[in-house]
Amino acid sequence: MRVAKLFNLVSALALFAFVGTAAAAGPAQPTAVLTSADCVKCHEQPPKDIAAAGGKHKTEVSCQDCHVGHPPKVKKPIPQCSQCHEGKPHFKLQGCLGCHSNPHTPKVIKFGNNVTDPCLTCHTGQIEQLRSFKSKHSALNCSFCHNVHGRIPDCTQCHKSHSNEIVQKDCKVCHQAHKPADVTYKSDTPSKFCAACHSKAYKLLTSSTAKHSKLACVYCHQAKHKMVPQCTQCHVKPHPAAIMAKFPKCGECHSIAHDLNRWGDAAAPAAAPAAAPAKPAAPAKPAKKK
Ligand code: HEC
Ligand code: HEC
Ligand code: HEC
Ligand code: HEC
Ligand code: HEC
Ligand code: HEC
Ligand code: HEC
Ligand code: HEC
Ligand code: HEC
Ligand code: HEC
Ligand code: HEC
Ligand code: HEC
Repeated sequence: MRVAKLFNLVSALALFAFVGTAAAAGPAQPTAVLTSADCVKCHEQPPKDIAAAGGKHKTEVSCQDCHVGHPPKVKKPIPQCSQCHEGKPHFKLQGCLGCHSNPHTPKVIKFGNNVTDPCLTCHTGQIEQLRSFKSKHSALNCSFCHNVHGRIPDCTQCHKSHSNEIVQKDCKVCHQAHKPADVTYKSDTPSKFCAACHSKAYKLLTSSTAKHSKLACVYCHQAKHKMVPQCTQCHVKPHPAAIMAKFPKCGECHSIAHDLNRWGDAAAPAAAPAAAPAKPAAPAKPAKKK
């Protein structure tokens, strides 16, 4: 290897010496021209890299578009990226080669785990969410999670699930990566997911014999975590006004939503005097179904 290099060096020098003396020797002498096809004779790696992953640096430019001249005539024939790339915020970043670590494979991008601002030259939606919905993710750098460009990490890479029922693909039922503390969910979210943290409510409801036990948690606690509905949202005027004026709280007779109608319970003594209006004069309106 070493020997081959040395040999190449000798022929390179011969070549340049030849080019160098051409002018002095007069117009009769043919001029040897260094072309991009010659580079590989002495430089092994750059042509290999470009062939493998040169992208547009392979198809849109040649070695010599970037490397104008050659040592010893031109001491450092290394281009500035800005010679060809300008006019976008991205091209105003410092240290292009910090991320595009090899100009011969420009789309192979590496970054450390503390990069945020450079990402914002192309992606803006995520930072807006991270800033307007403050969470502990807001304090992390983009590349702390996306350590390879374009790679999406699993939540479970860094977090334990709330239960065995909930797996990676379920996290986004309730959380969004860039605003994780703003918990929302859709109307088809299984009650078992809620049970991971609310086992008491889950058990109470599912073991009740009242009709609420057939309903999903999210049927009542709609869309946003910690939302608590009013009974009258669904049961509009269930009983005559006179009765409601006397007993304004549904719970006085019906106990709690998760465990309705424990009529006989000592725990709900208010139900006893309420026995009279047990058969409301007007038929109670059925709950609105959705
Ligand atoms: C005959 C061998 C030979 C050929 C052909 C050759 N080079 Fe070189 N090149 C060298 C040598 C030897 C050096 C180191 C010279 C020095 O450091 O003074 C060098 C240096 C360089 C450098 C500077 C590297 C640095 O770190 O500053 C670049 C860039 C370069 N060559 C590009 C090319 C390109 C592009 C071609 C094809 C158009 C090419 N070379 C063709 C032998 C060659
Ligand atoms: C888009 C511009 C561009 C093209 C095209 C390009 N280079 Fe380079 N090349 C660079 C830059 C920039 C550097 C300096 C990299 C650094 O500082 O790490 C470099 C470095 C080099 C070096 C010296 C360092 C090394 O890796 O050995 C050589 C030799 C070289 N290029 C040869 C080539 C050859 C041969 C080709 C064509 C097959 C080529 N380059 C095509 C931009 C280019
Ligand atoms: C001699 C001109 C020239 C130089 C110097 C140059 N580029 Fe390019 N580069 C181009 C052209 C032309 C394209 C294709 C058109 C475009 O995407 O703008 C390109 C494309 C790219 C691409 C997209 C590649 C792809 O396959 O889509 C990246 C990334 C890139 N350049 C980075 C760099 C970086 C980093 C530097 C400095 C180390 C640099 N370029 C220096 C001419 C150049
Ligand atoms: C923090 C890392 C980082 C830095 C620093 C960086 N880039 Fe990029 N660059 C990227 C990423 C990521 C892409 C997107 C690649 C893709 O589309 O897959 C990219 C894409 C590009 C592209 C192709 C897309 C386009 O918009 O044309 C060019 C050209 C480019 N960069 C040039 C540069 C230049 C020039 C610099 C220095 C002024 C630079 N980059 C600095 C990460 C970086
Ligand atoms: C030069 C512009 C540019 C820069 C800088 C850039 N990206 Fe990208 N990024 C892109 C493009 C273009 C895509 C491909 C978009 C697509 O597929 O919809 C992409 C895709 C992504 C994706 C995958 C999106 C998906 O839907 O799968 C993630 C994640 C990503 N970038 C994160 C980052 C992070 C983090 C940074 C900073 C460390 C960054 N990007 C810097 C242009 C850039
Ligand atoms: C690369 C690691 C990483 C990944 C991937 C990740 N997180 Fe985090 N997350 C963290 C760190 C670090 C914290 C802060 C922990 C602390 O300070 O206790 C955090 C905090 C949180 C918090 C608490 C927020 C607060 O403000 O209280 C939630 C919720 C969360 N993550 C959900 C998720 C979800 C859902 C995903 C997938 C979409 C995810 N995380 C992906 C690292 C990660
Ligand atoms: C805590 C880890 C974490 C942090 C910090 C983070 N992301 Fe993400 N990002 C993710 C996860 C997980 C996804 C996948 C979301 C999904 O599948 O719905 C994602 C998705 C993306 C996407 C794909 C499109 C989208 O919005 O879903 C882009 C682009 C992106 N992130 C860019 C960024 C940028 C830019 C930053 C910094 C401002 C950033 N991310 C910070 C974890 C993170
Ligand atoms: C059914 C909805 C739901 C699903 C599905 C869900 N989470 Fe959560 N998660 C929550 C709620 C609600 C909180 C907030 C509890 C609070 O306010 O303290 C939370 C809090 C967190 C926290 C903050 C720390 C903690 O434990 O309180 C992390 C981290 C987290 N979730 C990660 C995940 C991951 C990872 C997944 C997927 C494996 C996931 N979550 C799936 C609802 C859900
Ligand atoms: C990761 C654990 C976790 C998950 C999963 C979870 N919650 Fe919670 N939830 C909590 C915590 C913690 C509180 C606060 C308890 C407190 O303040 O005493 C809470 C409080 C509530 C409250 C009471 C709000 C109030 O004002 O008292 C409701 C209602 C609620 N959650 C419904 C749900 C529903 C519906 C689901 C399923 C879609 C769910 N939760 C999933 C942890 C969770
Ligand atoms: C999101 C809507 C919703 C909310 C909020 C709600 N309910 Fe219901 N409720 C229903 C539905 C649906 C039924 C079943 C109706 C049917 O099957 O005919 C029902 C049934 C009932 C029944 C009849 C039970 C049985 O087994 O016959 C009573 C009593 C009742 N609800 C009381 C309440 C009380 C008290 C509250 C507040 C603590 C409440 N509901 C909150 C939707 C709701
Ligand atoms: C029929 C509507 C309805 C259903 C279904 C329902 N809830 Fe509730 N929930 C309520 C109402 C109304 C309250 C307020 C207390 C009350 O009046 O009973 C409440 C209170 C809560 C509270 C706060 C007080 C407490 O008991 O800790 C939590 C947590 C809660 N529900 C979680 C759940 C979970 C988890 C499910 C599913 C297993 C569920 N709920 C199903 C209507 C419902
Ligand atoms: C004074 C006691 C009392 C109060 C207060 C009360 N109810 Fe009732 N409610 C009853 C009784 C008794 C029945 C009939 C039970 C049966 O037939 O099994 C009933 C029946 C119902 C029914 C079922 C109707 C049907 O068609 O099956 C609903 C729904 C209902 N109540 C909702 C409510 C709501 C909502 C409130 C609060 C706004 C409320 N009730 C307040 C005593 C009460």
